[in-house]
Amino acid sequence: MDRLAKNSVLDRDGYLTLIRNRDSVREYAAGLATEIKRQHYGDRVFIRGLIEFTNNCRNNCYYCGIRSGNGCVERYRLSPQDILCCADSGYELGFRTFVLQGGEDAAYTDDALVDIISEIRRKHPDCAITLSVGERSRESYRRLKEAGADRYLLRHETVNPLHYKKLHPADMSHANRLKCLYTLKELGYQTGAGFMVGSPGQTDEDLADEMLFLKELDPQMVGIGPFIPHKDTPFCDEKPGSAELTVFLLSLIRLTLPRVLLPATTALGTIDPAGREKGILAGANVLMPNLSPASVRNKYLLYDNKLCTGEEAAQCIECLKSRIAGTGFKIVTERGDYNGKI
Ligand code: 5AD
Ligand code: FES
Repeated sequence: MDRLAKNSVLDRDGYLTLIRNRDSVREYAAGLATEIKRQHYGDRVFIRGLIEFTNNCRNNCYYCGIRSGNGCVERYRLSPQDILCCADSGYELGFRTFVLQGGEDAAYTDDALVDIISEIRRKHPDCAITLSVGERSRESYRRLKEAGADRYLLRHETVNPLHYKKLHPADMSHANRLKCLYTLKELGYQTGAGFMVGSPGQTDEDLADEMLFLKELDPQMVGIGPFIPHKDTPFCDEKPGSAELTVFLLSLIRLTLPRVLLPATTALGTIDPAGREKGILAGANVLMPNLSPASVRNKYLLYDNKLCTGEEAAQCIECLKSRIAGTGFKIVTERGDYNGKI
């Protein structure tokens, strides 16, 4: 653990040993991780307003509640005006980063997204715009960046190509997903990768490999959360990932990538009511409350029991603030850019 804190990297066996023996090192790891987080970001926790603007998706990932094959979903799309409205009310609430997240929905062409991004950029020039709209072409990513997008989230889901095949139908390409991540970085996006913890078939060795991959990719953001089964997916009977392991991995990620922007995710808060606080106390420094209109919030259900009201809702930022204050860290409203070299 000290070796990791000093060099920000271990070999595969090093990570594997820590993961296997986490019960005896988790507290120590969390202490080191919060110390390193403090060195780079002080006591600040950044907030991002999440706008889930479409639950239409052309893909059919076995784990995901909004997969194309799920006929039980009531599909929706937010209009550009709806999205703008969300951003405006988020701005009033203090948000300075908007995350536009959606399924891979062909209705949002490059032209359509360019218009939406440019309009948010024009109205809120002091805000960061983050996209999370899946795999697109290099040219598309380039245009969206030119229109004003600053950051891009694209979880790779697993670094292991065989494991990827277990989680996705044959028409989805692991190689293309990784290529997209490298393209996004090259184009100058603050780029976020990530994976689910405890997804079906994942091994401790896979997790050790995740750490090595993250070190190599060196993304500015990493999103991880426990896998949670969704009742209308092929993985409905699989067992969920654990909050405990997720929290430990947050510490390992902080120690491996000291400056990374690392959210305590909604999935972590869903599986454990104290998950987000535990995440902050283990090295996370970002929270992403939901800014989507209340009328669609219960339709963007990637997994069962997803938190989408109460403290998960951006409107309840005050409750979130007081909960986080209990950790000794403090929610701030600044953009919260990556503070290292991109
Ligand atoms: N449980 C947990 N996380 C999920 N995601 C999708 N489905 C689930 C699930 N059942 C995650 C994926 C995706 C992100 C937007 O949500 O990692 O990249
Ligand atoms: Fe939409 Fe996985 S189901 S990308």
